[in-house]
Amino acid sequence: EKGGFEHFMLKEIFEQPKSVKDSMRGRISAEKGQIMLGGLREYLDKLTQAQRIIILGCGTSWHAGLVAEYIFEEYARIPVEVEYASEFRYRNPVINPEDIVIAISQSGETADTLAAIELAKSKGAVIFGVCNVVGASIPRATHAGAYTHAGPEIGVASTKAFTAQVTVLSMMAIVAAKSRGTISDKVYRELLTAFEDIPVKIQQALNSNAQIKYIADIFKDARNFLYLGRGYNFPVALEGALKLKEISYIHAEGYPAAEMKHGPIALIDEEMPVVFIATKDSSYEKIVSNIQEVRARKGRVIAVVTEGDQLIKQMAEFVIEIPATHEALTPILAVIPLQLLSYYIAVMRGCNVDQPRNLAKSVTVE
Ligand code: M6R
Repeated sequence: EKGGFEHFMLKEIFEQPKSVKDSMRGRISAEKGQIMLGGLREYLDKLTQAQRIIILGCGTSWHAGLVAEYIFEEYARIPVEVEYASEFRYRNPVINPEDIVIAISQSGETADTLAAIELAKSKGAVIFGVCNVVGASIPRATHAGAYTHAGPEIGVASTKAFTAQVTVLSMMAIVAAKSRGTISDKVYRELLTAFEDIPVKIQQALNSNAQIKYIADIFKDARNFLYLGRGYNFPVALEGALKLKEISYIHAEGYPAAEMKHGPIALIDEEMPVVFIATKDSSYEKIVSNIQEVRARKGRVIAVVTEGDQLIKQMAEFVIEIPATHEALTPILAVIPLQLLSYYIAVMRGCNVDQPRNLAKSVTVE
């Protein structure tokens, strides 16, 4: 059942070219210039007219929500707030009937997310679900939604669910942008083509497997890790850190790279591995100077870069290449090496990767 892989997590990481393709299947056609999310059709007007979007989730699903914030705001021009379901539900939030709530959950059973949905519903908001498990409690509690269709995820660490969530949320954002008229035809078409090319590029990103294993061996005994990214890749930094924490029990923190100088820079010494997501996008120059700041303090830099990058190769101790794509879709590729890095470090430390201590696959307690 593990398909020849040693763990479910590794199997699920390697399934991503297919699972992401499945999450787009029948929903997108660059040739026809179309994105269609059947489950949203009845509520498309609501989405188009939304005054605000509130995104709810926990853990990795919350990270997917953060990526969605960037793409919804950039292209659909709808203000977005991303909230931990557990904080939202206990703080008497302001919710209006013109708000759309998007609840994200792989399992569809997370207690806090479900309770937050019920609260928002009672205040009149329209609730969309982005869930993986068909027929689970959360999709049943929502008005509309889109399944991620990633297939069963068994490993406690969420991998293919995350890339599928980001794919579906990004499609939603582009659907909203198109119907609001806030995206140019040119960018719309570029994005559609970029979506269609993503599965092949995930496959290419997976080709760094052996090199990532090599890097894992060098850093497996580290006591701390820092993950830094900017823009669309800031949530990827958070996700990389969470993956490492939960399965290898190494303390890791994710930060927006620019925040480093407001505190975390004090942590950097010759023993601190710093993982940068430093792809060639709109914040490239800025992240290059953040890498220099870490190097100047002798931090050990591992950088996820765009294929062919020469500059960062000279600065970082290790680089891991991923293919170029549209900036908005880079998180789907950039997270792949981070999943593998945490996986190999955990295996080398003898940890139970599929069932880490103290954790359950779905958190049905509050
Ligand atoms: O099933 P959900 O997506 O609602 O689960 C949310 C979190 O419990 C989950 O993402 C958790 O953080 C994972 N173990 C992360 O890998």
